[in-house]
Amino acid sequence: MSTPKPKEVLVLDGVGKVYPGAVPTRALEGISCRVSAGEFMAIVGASGSGKTTLLNLLGLLDSPTEGRVWLDGLEVTALTSDEAAHLRRDRMGFIFQFHYLLPEFSALENVLMPCRLAGGGREEEQEAWVRSLFERVGLTSKIDRRPNQLSGGEQQRVAILRAVANNPLVILADEPTGNLDSRNAAEVFGLLREITRESPRTVIMVTHDRELAAKTDRVMTLRDGRVESDTAAG
Ligand SMILES: Nc1ncnc2c1ncn2[C@@H]1O[C@H](COP(=O)(O)OP(=O)(O)OP(=O)(O)O)[C@@H](O)[C@H]1O
Ligand SMILES: [Mg+2]
Repeated sequence: MSTPKPKEVLVLDGVGKVYPGAVPTRALEGISCRVSAGEFMAIVGASGSGKTTLLNLLGLLDSPTEGRVWLDGLEVTALTSDEAAHLRRDRMGFIFQFHYLLPEFSALENVLMPCRLAGGGREEEQEAWVRSLFERVGLTSKIDRRPNQLSGGEQQRVAILRAVANNPLVILADEPTGNLDSRNAAEVFGLLREITRESPRTVIMVTHDRELAAKTDRVMTLRDGRVESDTAAG
């Protein structure tokens, strides 16, 4: 049995997922892995190999049909869905391929949203910190724009700020650069790398881009719902 060791942020033991339906689909089988604090990991694999399914399990957006999952030493497969939702809100940051910024809110409000939902810290302090993040990525002049008044690359940078603003333990990204050209993709990836290096956070990123994957610490390759390889990158 593989219970978590200190510093292991995510631990999966024999995790599997079958989607129910007229013809049930097995998406994952026998996945075991340990992700340490501060690790930047890429998940690669062919379309349909189970990458998004795995990311959803790691992000507590879905639960496995077999196996156990621990987040920061806590067994999440033993939690109720309400408890998992709280944990997800407090500890996880998400970046999706299509950024899902809220169209009726400004860039600034979009980034502040998770901080406000989580409560806790003081609002002025959070806003000052978020404004400094915008400064860092060169978007200060566009802070009051709505998402549809920003380019795709700018929207994706805002989405990254939103994912890190709440200081999550784990950042999960599904093809964060998938709809960007190579220059913007490199810039957005660089930003994610830089921000998470400064104050170490665990990042798990699904990508089709082998070049970007090679710039992470570790690459897990899925094939037909199983781990084909899991190696240090570089
Ligand atoms: N909600 C669902 N219901 C039924 N089957 C699903 C569901 N979501 C995914 N699947 C199936 O599970 C398998 C893995 O899908 P998943 O989305 O995890 O793949 P992926 O590796 O992310 O692919 P892509 O690179 O195309 O995004 C596929 O066979 C897919 O058809
Ligand atoms: Mg996918």
